[in-house]
Parts: sequence; structure tokens; C-alpha cells
Amino acid sequence: WKEVNVYQIYPMSFKDSNGDGIGDIQGIISKLDYLKELGIDVIWLSPIYRSPNFDMGYDISDYCSLDPRYGSIDDMHQLLKAMKERGIKLLMDLVVNHTSHLHPWFLQSSSSKLSPKRDWYIWRPPRIDESGNRHPPNNWDAIWGGSAWEWDENTQEYYLHLYLKEQPDLNWENIEVRRAVHELMRWWLDKGVSGFRMDVINLISKPEGLPDEPLENAGFTVFPVSIPNGPRVHEFLREMNEEVISKYDAMTVGETPWTHDPAILARYVKPSSKELNMVFTFHHVDIDGGVENSWKPIPWKLSSYKQIINKWQTYMHEHEGWNSIFIENHDQGRSLSRFGNDSAEYRSISAKMLAVGQICQGGTIYVYQGEELGMANVPPSWGIEEYKDVATQSYWKAILEKRRENSENPDMSDILKDLRKKARDNARTPVQWDDSPHAGFTSENATPWMRVNDDYTQWNATQQMNDPNSVRFFWKRALAFRKAHPVLIHGSFRLISPSDERVFAIERQHGDVTAIIVINFSGINVNFSFPQDSKIPKGLKLQLSNYENTDETLENISPTLVNLRPYEARVYL
Ligand code: NOJ
Repeated sequence: WKEVNVYQIYPMSFKDSNGDGIGDIQGIISKLDYLKELGIDVIWLSPIYRSPNFDMGYDISDYCSLDPRYGSIDDMHQLLKAMKERGIKLLMDLVVNHTSHLHPWFLQSSSSKLSPKRDWYIWRPPRIDESGNRHPPNNWDAIWGGSAWEWDENTQEYYLHLYLKEQPDLNWENIEVRRAVHELMRWWLDKGVSGFRMDVINLISKPEGLPDEPLENAGFTVFPVSIPNGPRVHEFLREMNEEVISKYDAMTVGETPWTHDPAILARYVKPSSKELNMVFTFHHVDIDGGVENSWKPIPWKLSSYKQIINKWQTYMHEHEGWNSIFIENHDQGRSLSRFGNDSAEYRSISAKMLAVGQICQGGTIYVYQGEELGMANVPPSWGIEEYKDVATQSYWKAILEKRRENSENPDMSDILKDLRKKARDNARTPVQWDDSPHAGFTSENATPWMRVNDDYTQWNATQQMNDPNSVRFFWKRALAFRKAHPVLIHGSFRLISPSDERVFAIERQHGDVTAIIVINFSGINVNFSFPQDSKIPKGLKLQLSNYENTDETLENISPTLVNLRPYEARVYL
């Protein structure tokens, strides 16, 4: 699991095989050769379970059956067989901080205070104020706004939901809940899956007594800072490891947001902890989001970005930890439009530059569907009706309502502009397979569940598979290059010129191999000189570059100076 190339599939948008406008399992099977050719070893599949889809499958109503729109268990067996034939493994998405409100467990739990499943969720009586008014048990906000507590008329108590009210949080303090989770994990492992990506796994243990969040942290989209990495989370994960993971030698990656301290996350992944193989930290992708409002893009500096990457790379390397390397997933705007340059002139070169930035970091690498094609954020001309994510829509509605207090028809163009950068919808447009109608994602007469990005006639997989200069070709080369050079996966990490605002320069070392990576994040020519004290060994050779005609090497120019073109990225070994 350290050296594998992982690819994330967001099933609804990947490939539709039956013309209903929604991606499905047979669609995935039809693209396995494409993934194999790219160099993929492991697929992380976002949820495909039965779900009312309030949050795109992250609200599960049955862990052991599938959303019929994706296919049947029989299709799943076919997928596993076809993957096995190609030597590709499957990670399922384990969403067990919460279920759907329509899961039979919650239906039973909410049916009566006396239900044997009552304690499977987090129920509390109201707080009653001096005037006899009812209030939620504490001041926690749900992640996308509003209280994290929902009143249940039937049983006269509140239940906790850190996400939507349709996503009630499970009570992990209850051993029966944990056993049920272990059982469903075994069920999937017995079917032949190889491990799990664990959704918001650092939220499963809630702070004791569910205390109020300090008021200074309360706000619209601010998440209660006291909730992540709760008191029993490590105990719960060790137990899960002992009961399930270790017995199957399964691969695990935990999603652990709202944690910017590597010391806290390293605890989850040190071998001696016997918990998880690795976690996803979000520190680097939080860099262009506000603390008070993650949908509002803020300017970012390369020096800060480098510092964040450096912090995680060096900490994990020095403390027996392990990193997950990613810059895109289904919750993030496209990296090209945030960290690269999606203009016609620089799109291809900057997408390749970002690829170098990824493959040169230590850890296990994750590529998100479409990232290998340089897919970009949605175009400026799209209206709010094209954005389908519940988080986007509730954010929009809340602001609209507020603005309507002052004007009947408020200007919302600034919000749309923000969403164009940061909304999760940007990553969820259908994959662009070819230049036929709907980009070959679904059949011609179908209506895709989400609009295909307008640029698909120029930016699609078929066109790129035929062009040796394409982003797709480059990603394939870069992934193979990484595998061939363990220094990139396992090596130490040292920043060169940390305060340079244009160039990301790194030295990696492993055994007697040294790698020097120089990446121009800017759209201008830069003469980058290594600092006097760099101690760069002589004779390093250029081995990977995103420009075709790179004739300079560290050998035949001054060893301390590299002339970089816009978004040029080079790896010397
Ligand atoms: C993280 C998932 O990646 C996201 O898509 C989802 O909305 C939340 N967890 C809630 O499950």
C-alpha cells in the first residue's frame, strides 16, 4: 500500500453504461483497461450503497446492498472479478460516523425511547430556558449550517447530526454499534474488497459530556473545533484493527479533516498504534479557504503552501508516519483552476506541473478521476441551477435569504464567483471521455445527472490518448517514473529556498540517491538559483520534465542556476 497508485472514482460521474444519465458499475468495468494503462493499482470507490442520496451516497440506508442505479451485487462481483484479472484492488468507502435517517437502525432508534436501538444514535433531552422555551442540548453547528441537533416530535428528544439532519451520527460509545460496523466490514472483505477509505473517521468519538463549543468558534460554516479527534477515537480504531483489519491485511486510509497538526494525525498511522495505514490531511487544500467560511476563496502564497507540505512531509518521515498525497477529490474544486492555470495557453503545461508536484511527494498517491485529463472547474457562464451539491445549495439559500432582508432581488454574482472556485460541484461534473454529445459519459439521448463541462470537445480522454503531449500521457509517465524511483516515495524531504514565491524546490534523499525537484508555479520565466549553502551533489541528470525541449541539465549549466519557463517542472536524479 505504500507504493501503489490509487485512483478515486466518484461513481455517479464516472461512466454511464445504461443511458440513465448516472454512472454505474458496468461503466466502471468498461474503463478498467483505461485505468490499468494509466498505471493504477488500487481504486477507491466513493459510496455505491443503497441511499436516499441527500448527500450523494454519503448517507447510507443499507451497507450491504447497492443503490440500484449503480447496479446489483452481481455487478459488484463482476467488477471484483474484472479487477482481479487486471491486478487492481478495490477500496470501499466506509461511511460510519453517520447513517442515513432512513437506515433501519435509525428508524428503530427513533421509533421509541424504549427501542433496543435507541442508544445506537446520540439522543438528548432539550435544554429548557427560564421562560420555558426549548433549545438544543448544546450550541454545536452542523457543518453546512444550522444547529447540529434535530428535534424529534415523536420521542420528544433531539438527535445529533454533524452533517445534514438526514445523516444522524452513530453512537460509537455503544459496543453493539461498533460490532455492527465490524460485521459490515467483514461482509465486504469476504466479498473480496481489499480495504477501506474511512469517511470523517476522526469524528466518531465525541467529547465527553458534549460540552458547548466556546463561543468564539461559533459561526456559519465554522466547524466546532472541539469535536475532531475525540477522546476514544484511537481506542475504537485499534479495536477495529484487531477485530477486522489485521485479520484481512486490509488497506486503510482515514479521512481526518479539521486537523492541521501532524502530531495529532501521526498517532493514527504509526505502525505501533495499530490503527490505520494513512490518513488524508486537508491542511494544504484548506489554504485557499477562509477560516470562517470555507466556500470563500482567499489568496494564497506559494511560501505558505510549501511550508504546509514541508511540515507534513518531514513530520511523517521523521516519526514513522505515512502521508496520503492528493490535491483533488470529490469535495474539492479542481486543482488546475485553484493551484495551476486553466487558461487555454497554460492549461496543459500547468496540469503537468501539478502532476510533478504530486508524484514528488513522499507517501501513497491518489489521483482523482479527471485529474489525469486536466479537467477544470465549471465555466463562468453556468448559473446556480447547474450546481447540484446540497452543501452549495444550502449555502446559497442562506445567503440569499439574508440578502433579501435588504433587497428583493439581491446581487449574488460574488457568491457565484466564489463557488466557481471552491464548490464541490466543480469536481463532480461527468468525466469527459470523448467529443460526442455528453462527452461520451452517457448515451446521446440521455440527460446526464449533472451538466458536462462545456470544454469537453477539446478536453477529453480519447483526444488525449492519441496525443503524446497530452496531460493524460504525462500522468502515465509520471506515475511510472515515481514507481521506478523509490526516492520519490520513501525519501527524506527538504525544502530549498522556502521563501521563494515562484519556485517550489525540493531535495529528496533515499539511500545514495538524491532527487532535486524544481517547479515553477508562476506564469513567467524565472531564473532560479540555488542558495550558496544548498550542497547539491554534482552530476544530477534531468529525468522528468513537463516541457518537451528541455536541453538544460544541472550538468551543463551553472550548477546553481536553472532557467524555468512558465509552469516548468523538472526532476533531476
Ligand atoms: C466527507 C465526504 O468526503 C463528503 O463528500 C461528505 O459530504 C461528508 N464526509 C459526509 O459524509
